[in-house]
Amino acid sequence: MDDSGGVQMARALKHAALCLMLLPRFLLAAVMLWLLDFLCIRRKVLLKMGERQDSPDDPPVCVSDSNKMFTWESLRAVWHGQKLDFLKSAHLGEAAPNTEVVLVQERRQVRILDCTKGKRPLVLNFGSYFLVVYIEEAHPSDGWVSSDAPYQIPKHRCLEDRLRAAQLMLTEVPESKVVVDNMDNSSNAAYGAYFERLYIVMDERVVYQGGRGPEGYRISELKNWLEQYRKENGQVKVQT
Ligand SMILES: *[C@@H]1O[C@H](CO)[C@@H](O)[C@H](O)[C@H]1NC(C)=O
Repeated sequence: MDDSGGVQMARALKHAALCLMLLPRFLLAAVMLWLLDFLCIRRKVLLKMGERQDSPDDPPVCVSDSNKMFTWESLRAVWHGQKLDFLKSAHLGEAAPNTEVVLVQERRQVRILDCTKGKRPLVLNFGSYFLVVYIEEAHPSDGWVSSDAPYQIPKHRCLEDRLRAAQLMLTEVPESKVVVDNMDNSSNAAYGAYFERLYIVMDERVVYQGGRGPEGYRISELKNWLEQYRKENGQVKVQT
């Protein structure tokens, strides 16, 4: 039994080290959220972010005055997101994690790389078009609620909930393929995608890794990558 005690100890130590490493970044985010609850500060910050936005393609970060930012739920969500980002296995230039997902229309289980078409770049949009990978809600109506979210969706308790919520997205972007993450949230974990995030996968490798949403979510960056790719490879049609 000593052995399992040792294993448990190692696990606890690893967890403690992880917490220590994540703490500074988390505290910074917490202070930011707290400050954002002062409306005069929030308006100034949003204005600044709006000015910095250099492309009309990128969705503006918007927060209504009525949304409280510093809550127990928001802190939990931020912690969860930072932890996933830290522990993700997807890294630029490395093999793309081939996680399990479920096709929304066919309700069939596949692997994420099964959605690649030959040698064409596959855009993974953890959040709304191309191959959309629908993951756990960052703003469920029973968690960190945001009245700016287009739909009020509770936390998915089962795969059926998740598939039903993803159907909403299909009606909005009917031309794109939508898959949902499995209930172990393995794609979310592998790609550190909580909130939202963009990736491009080609030849089973990660060739573009966008920043963490909402502030790091840049469609303009993705477009630049694709344009560059088109220039270098002639008129290869990229699925959009
Ligand atoms: C996956 O996400 C759902 C929320 O959509 C959550 O209820 C569930 O506990 C998560 N699963 C795991 C294994 O963390």
